[in-house]
Amino acid sequence: LRNFAMSKVTIVDVHTHVYPPRYVSILKSRTTVPYVRDTTPGQPSRLIILPGEDSPSSHSTAAGRPIGPEYYDINAKIAFMDTHGIDVSVISLANPWLDFLDPREAAAVAREINYDLDSMCKTYPGRLFAFGALPLSGTTDVIVNEIERLPGYNYMRGVIMGTGGLGNGLDDLSLDPVYRALEANNMTIFLHPHYGLPKEVFGPRAAEYGHVLPLALGFPLETTVAVSRMILSGVFDRFPKLQVLLAHSGGTLPFLAGRLESCIAHDAHYRPEGRRSIWDVLKVNIMLDAVVYSELGVRAAAAASGGDRVLFGTDHPFFPPLEAEEDAKGESADGKQSEKWLSVTTNYKAIRDAFSDNNGQEESVLGGNAIRLLRLA
Ligand code: URA
Ligand code: ZN
Repeated sequence: LRNFAMSKVTIVDVHTHVYPPRYVSILKSRTTVPYVRDTTPGQPSRLIILPGEDSPSSHSTAAGRPIGPEYYDINAKIAFMDTHGIDVSVISLANPWLDFLDPREAAAVAREINYDLDSMCKTYPGRLFAFGALPLSGTTDVIVNEIERLPGYNYMRGVIMGTGGLGNGLDDLSLDPVYRALEANNMTIFLHPHYGLPKEVFGPRAAEYGHVLPLALGFPLETTVAVSRMILSGVFDRFPKLQVLLAHSGGTLPFLAGRLESCIAHDAHYRPEGRRSIWDVLKVNIMLDAVVYSELGVRAAAAASGGDRVLFGTDHPFFPPLEAEEDAKGESADGKQSEKWLSVTTNYKAIRDAFSDNNGQEESVLGGNAIRLLRLA
């Protein structure tokens, strides 16, 4: 009999971002999105990354978000982890990763950023692992070359990727060498949105609603479309061991998987040979983070991929408490380091409530699944 009162659950955060200082320097050298802008003296710099975020219609003096140490200082990450009871974090570069780089510099920057990430992990042995970044604006040779370097690092467990691929999305057959190399090197893809949906979808009043529509809906739908295209194009039939961790509990994939299957079953123009069902792919190739902020969402994720494939995450340093941003008055959003973040406590509660009738599953989602699936032990 295990004594639960005595045993502390290991908590692993698989969705937590950092911009190594070298990446912040790149953003500071730029004047178009993505970039970091030093505004009024005494005020924090602002991080402007999302498509259209600096357009005049989104009242440009307040464009973006303040960027402070929580974005680039690994000690701030550890402080955040300590405040929230997180033992281990699998850090990843935040969007838009290396997507915008000149193809000629992509390979070198990817090498440097991956070195930086691994070095950060080294400063807190056992507490940090990483998803590396790929030089996706480069050639497939360059990308594959970087993938093959990753196992040489101590702490790399995969790569974070957006939905653009080489420019034509993730169902592009030219990506096969990339998928092949990731599968062969046991590197999980952490698939994360950035580009959202075309802004027309949100209508002429969108700016009145801040970032709510693009972040709450555009992001997850972008992920849903991207992974659906991977499935439809047979990526998981050709690479049956490829592992993909989907941000934000897979967007709406758990909810819409049945409809996808049904549309496939009724489409006379799409008749692939030997196609695996989406339900099979969900349980074998897909992992879902638990960054969905509701019990219902966590239950859907667990029903789709299994409670053994859902993994706790925070999305730190995004979604800080609004009061912290205001209180910091020029010192950036990490003002009150010891205060718990609503975005994190909401996800903890969602996991607790989702598995209240199922002891053991909660612990797995909080850390055990990540330790096993990402080989963190
Ligand atoms: N906003 C972003 O730009 N990225 C995230 O990961 C979360 C919110
Ligand atoms: Zn994120």
